[in-house]
Amino acid sequence: MSGNSTQKFFVTTPIYYVNDQPHIGHAYTTLAADVTARFHRLAGRDVFFLTGTDEHGQKVAQSAAAAGITPQQFTDNVSQNFRDLTKLLNFSNDDFIRTTEPRNIAAAQALWQAMAKAVSPDGQPAIYLGSYSGWYAVRDEAFYDEAELNDGPDGGKLAPSGAPVAWVEEPSYFFRLSAYGDALLALYEAEPDLVAPSSRRNEIKSFVKGGLRDLSISRTSFSWGVPVPGDEKHVMYVWLDALVNYIAALGFPEKGEGSPYDRFWPADLHLVGKDIVRFHTVYWPAFLMAANLPLPQRVFAHGWWTIEGQKMSKSLGNVIAPSQLVETYGLDQTRHLLMAEVPFGNDGDFSHKSAIRRINADLANGIGNLAQRTLTLIQKNCEAAVPEPGQFADQDKILLDAAYSLYRNVEADLRLQSFHEVLRAIWSVIAGADSYIDRNAPWALKKTDIARMGTVLYVLAETLRALGIVLQPFMPETMARLLDQLAVPADKRDFAALGEAGSLVPGTALPPPQGLFPRIVEAE
Ligand code: MSP
Repeated sequence: MSGNSTQKFFVTTPIYYVNDQPHIGHAYTTLAADVTARFHRLAGRDVFFLTGTDEHGQKVAQSAAAAGITPQQFTDNVSQNFRDLTKLLNFSNDDFIRTTEPRNIAAAQALWQAMAKAVSPDGQPAIYLGSYSGWYAVRDEAFYDEAELNDGPDGGKLAPSGAPVAWVEEPSYFFRLSAYGDALLALYEAEPDLVAPSSRRNEIKSFVKGGLRDLSISRTSFSWGVPVPGDEKHVMYVWLDALVNYIAALGFPEKGEGSPYDRFWPADLHLVGKDIVRFHTVYWPAFLMAANLPLPQRVFAHGWWTIEGQKMSKSLGNVIAPSQLVETYGLDQTRHLLMAEVPFGNDGDFSHKSAIRRINADLANGIGNLAQRTLTLIQKNCEAAVPEPGQFADQDKILLDAAYSLYRNVEADLRLQSFHEVLRAIWSVIAGADSYIDRNAPWALKKTDIARMGTVLYVLAETLRALGIVLQPFMPETMARLLDQLAVPADKRDFAALGEAGSLVPGTALPPPQGLFPRIVEAE
């Protein structure tokens, strides 16, 4: 049920495969979740923000074998890299789950058992034992129909994602997905906000309308997975034990009043990349329906980054590690860049040239310059204290109103994951403040109308305070510094303090201003 009035918000990221080092694609999903979580916390909601690593399956087992270590050692190492990434990018996740943890294994087995007891909509057992013969892509950890495949260069076949596929034939348990098509289509109709953006919703609807086949949910040809309860020759299909992380982290199967599961499930938002929508909007809701558990409220799929116009790949050697960006541009610059550069949901290209252009325009020349000008004028002309305002003129009220109502104005876009629109609205207030400062020229008022100078600088300081508050989700560290420079108390930094409730108190001493964002000089 969208638009619910509960004051909790549960946001998740995909859990990352540990066969790879973290790159900007991984950082991107988690950053969007972090911005979301921080927004809801500042709005006073009870937030749970979950991320983690996906550690079972053939792909990870193969990478471990190639590295000459056991899967457990391998996953311990690589999972740590993803945990380090959360620190590096200042992510505020409340938990970090690994699918090899006992809690995830227990939840996967409990979900399996609930599904195994269930009867599907066509009156037959939801799980049955059979034998799988078909195509499997280890790289995607996904099964494909023959009709979906293309011919590869060396005579082999390729999945639509470009991953090579191999023929698999082995005993397998199946989930009777074929019986859930109508229920899923009814769900997409009843919950139009469930799958977003709408292009993805249409894609998924036509996939389901095309008819669903039963899904192989266990494997017997390798053992790096969660044993199937009661038949331990089988390990569960890695996506089953991956998807269950979202409830495992809430203590499932433990339920009931006061439990984290009751407090936070269903998820308000699963953020995913466009490649894994099918798993989250077809398989996952069908598993939950079978187990008779509530369904997530929304799944939003973002697009993919290319690098300087090319697909990011190890073989091209153009994979960008998030740490490289942070070293080159700074932490909050990187966070802003990734959120501002591309409309969330679209594919986007990363280039150093446009990164520098955006950081200089938005940050160094934008909010950074506005803060520096205002705070320096206050420091020099107002005895380093919050100035005393006089009566507000219409233009003062217009700017203050725009700044104070920022959160109200961006909330709808935030709920739609339109982060770039949120930023656009914030930057229009920055542009408004820039033209206000030029129009009122407070530096000249010192000689002609010192009272008016105080009012103008007060209005600008208030506008900066509001900007600092609403930009915290995107750039927490730098905005904390801005709010420090305005002497905003720690308990007046949330959205409730945005308007007059948190107004700066005239006469409050202000520390000497320090630049927020240095200008980047482009190396030729
Ligand atoms: N383990 C599964 C998810 C299980 S969730 C229950 C998985 N892992 S992944 O590590 O391969 O991918 C994780 C996320 O990174 C996906 O959402 C994917 O879209 C995203 N990205 C990987 N490369 C990307 C880009 N080049 N650009 C943007 N995001 C990309 O899938």
